[in-house]
Amino acid sequence: MEGDKRPDKLRVAVLGCGSVGSQVVRLLQEQAGDLAARVGVPVELAGVAVRRLDAPREVEVPADLLTTDAVGLVSRDDVDLVVEVIGGIEPARSLILTALENGASVVSANKALLAEDGPTLFEAAEKAGRDLYYEAAVAGAIPILRPLRESLAGDRVTRVLGIVNGTTNFILDKMDTSGAGFTEALEEAQELGYAEADPTADVEGFDAAAKAAILASLAFHSRVTASDVYREGISEVTAADVQSARDMGAVVKLLAICELREGEGGEEAVAVRVHPAMIPRSHPLASVREAYNAVFVESEAAGQLMFYGPGAGGSPTASAVLGDLVTVARNRLAGTRGAGESAYADRAVLPMGETRTRYHVAIDVDDRAGVLAAVATAFAEHGVSIQTVRQEGRDDDAQLVVVSHESTDAQLSATVAHLRDMEIVREVTSIMRVEGEHE
Ligand code: HSE
Repeated sequence: MEGDKRPDKLRVAVLGCGSVGSQVVRLLQEQAGDLAARVGVPVELAGVAVRRLDAPREVEVPADLLTTDAVGLVSRDDVDLVVEVIGGIEPARSLILTALENGASVVSANKALLAEDGPTLFEAAEKAGRDLYYEAAVAGAIPILRPLRESLAGDRVTRVLGIVNGTTNFILDKMDTSGAGFTEALEEAQELGYAEADPTADVEGFDAAAKAAILASLAFHSRVTASDVYREGISEVTAADVQSARDMGAVVKLLAICELREGEGGEEAVAVRVHPAMIPRSHPLASVREAYNAVFVESEAAGQLMFYGPGAGGSPTASAVLGDLVTVARNRLAGTRGAGESAYADRAVLPMGETRTRYHVAIDVDDRAGVLAAVATAFAEHGVSIQTVRQEGRDDDAQLVVVSHESTDAQLSATVAHLRDMEIVREVTSIMRVEGEHE
């Protein structure tokens, strides 16, 4: 597509024909008429790159469109748009770079690649004068990247809290509603197809951390990569933690938390973390059940916004891919490109130890005079202020549940280490960060 000549059609190559790719192909075929009307010209399938030609597929793809030569497909002169739904770092990165160099606009659903090496891709798109859109990389069908990049471009986002992993939300929801332990809830998630046979990427928070990096980059106009994100998964969350949350009117969720915080020298910095946290049941994110996702955005002018919906699955993710495809196709026809990377603010990333959080700590202690005072002193020695204390007496021991005010994460973890060393402390039975205000 050269010069000012308006093409009479646009041709799209799809890389990958798994659960998302096959739904992209289906929608391109079934909705061809509507897509043509919305874009302005027909959007035709030029080819589909697959690993094996004879693999079983969810949709029928004409045999002459299937190829195992992905490099050849993205290098073709008649390909205007490329959809990358292979996932992983390589060969996806090289294919996207080749597609851009070759003048194609790209739509990708690849959170791992965007979070690890986004700047390389954005620079290549900028140099090529082409679009690189990736709405499907975060929270499946939920429109969240476009609202951050476009709808809120005139506002100042201060915080993004997300439930961005459906597998872990399903497991934690199951633990909350049935009292099950982590292993039992994971097994149920696997039986129902919500968790992979190897669930590490989901349960250890890697998937959510990649999404957090993408959200933080867009929200705070700074480069944030997956390695900048503090990460803890949910495999250590116990039934006792979940019960302790219930007892204080809270629920445990795996949260991706991206915030603007005061950093070194009073400069604004970005704090990005993924970990399980207790949030009050009155918080809108507490109502996000089963495998659903939601992203809660706080901004100066708009206030609080929540985006909710299915965060995974072939068809929902394909919806986000097609939305991007229509946009980049319209841009091609208009001879323009959409907003590229915005990293002008160039904010530093705050180390986790310096990030201010709140802790919930449940402690089994001896029930005798001075114990509460000694526990309170341990918090005070580390500069941690206590917000609430609840005590439940049992025979000769008691359980203390302390919720702190905000302190640095380093002060709070030092307090917990101190408590564990105290003779009067029988066991620290639950430690978890707390988000949102409790009544
Ligand atoms: N495995 C992810 C989830 C979906 O459970 O939400 C893809 O990112």
